[in-house]
Amino acid sequence: MLSQKYQAMLNKKSAIMELSALAHARAQEIGEENVFDFSLGNPSVPAPKAYNARIIELLQQADINHVHSYSPDMGVLEAREKIAASLNRRFGMQYDAGDIVITAGAAGALAYAIRLVTSPGDEVLTFAPFFPEYAPYTELAGRRLCVVPARCADFQIDFDALERVMNARVQAVIVNTPCNPSGVVYAEETLSHLAEFLTAKEREYGHEIWLISDEPYREILFDGQKQPYVSAFYARTLSCYSFSKSLSVPGDRVGYLAVNPACGQSKLLARMAVQVSRGIGHDSTAGIVQRAAADCCDVTADFSVYARNMNLLYDELVKLGFEVVRPGGTFYMFPRAMERDAAAFCTKAARYDLILVPGDTFGVPGYFRIAYCTTEDKVRRSLEKWRELVKKEY
Ligand SMILES: Cc1ncc(COP(=O)(O)O)c(C=O)c1O
Repeated sequence: MLSQKYQAMLNKKSAIMELSALAHARAQEIGEENVFDFSLGNPSVPAPKAYNARIIELLQQADINHVHSYSPDMGVLEAREKIAASLNRRFGMQYDAGDIVITAGAAGALAYAIRLVTSPGDEVLTFAPFFPEYAPYTELAGRRLCVVPARCADFQIDFDALERVMNARVQAVIVNTPCNPSGVVYAEETLSHLAEFLTAKEREYGHEIWLISDEPYREILFDGQKQPYVSAFYARTLSCYSFSKSLSVPGDRVGYLAVNPACGQSKLLARMAVQVSRGIGHDSTAGIVQRAAADCCDVTADFSVYARNMNLLYDELVKLGFEVVRPGGTFYMFPRAMERDAAAFCTKAARYDLILVPGDTFGVPGYFRIAYCTTEDKVRRSLEKWRELVKKEY
């Protein structure tokens, strides 16, 4: 018999994928250059030359069987050593290779993390607005996702709301900073306060609470902002990283799980991740990609176009009367819609060929997401469309 669970999911379409399909269909009619598709978070800048050069070099120099052979179960040792050294150097951590497991992006790391520190029936807490895939990541693993409502003034954590949602069934908390979709960077103060809160709740409930830090946008920062390293605030932290955005290589599927050794169980957890991998058939990513990414873990793609796009859109939207929290990083922005029903707003925007995602998808009705990982020219040409939309519809 076919799985009822997965069959039922087919009826729950992804709003983002549907919008992207709409943009695609419209592009067939009027040309891709005339559709302002702000729906998908697909990086639009090239990978650094150093990464591509390293892949070619590895292919040309290394023993071909070695390059294409199965990767060790936790990932290539030298790659894990380089990642640990980079994190220690940049964030003052104490990782060694035994604390790092290479994964297929942040998605793979999250699949491990959720299973490692929670059991079926447990609750996993996160904060709105949140990356919508947290729902399937947790629910298909038999866990329940519970969501703390957003603090819309700045999209930092609303600690009063957290106190109301927190309960003894919560075994893990997911944070995502810089955040998809708000672009907001959690301040040091927010992270210290969260660490104190979790420590107090561990004492109150008499069990551990793990922090899962989802950080694929860690390096994409604007206006000289710094992203405090989440794990440095709380020992029981599992950091889930992806090179998809920092190196602009989402299709290469490479990232890692880094377990803070200060938790006292990092080696155990890293080895347990390999057992999770056996259960879900995940396995490590291609060795050649692991090596190239680890060699480039201190470099990034050129993100300057994301900053220019952010400024162009932010300034225009504010001028047009939108309420919008200025993003500190990522390539997303999360303004308030000009009417209560964000889906209705996005439908109207689509008439002007602006393809936007309603905030309901991210747990915050009444808002919408703009993914501005596109060319500056396209963003500039979209400004007239934004002006028309507001003038004619609102
Ligand atoms: C917040 C967040 N977490 C996790 C992921 C998954 O990252 P990856 O595709 O690199 O596995 C994404 C991808 O867009 C994301 O935005």
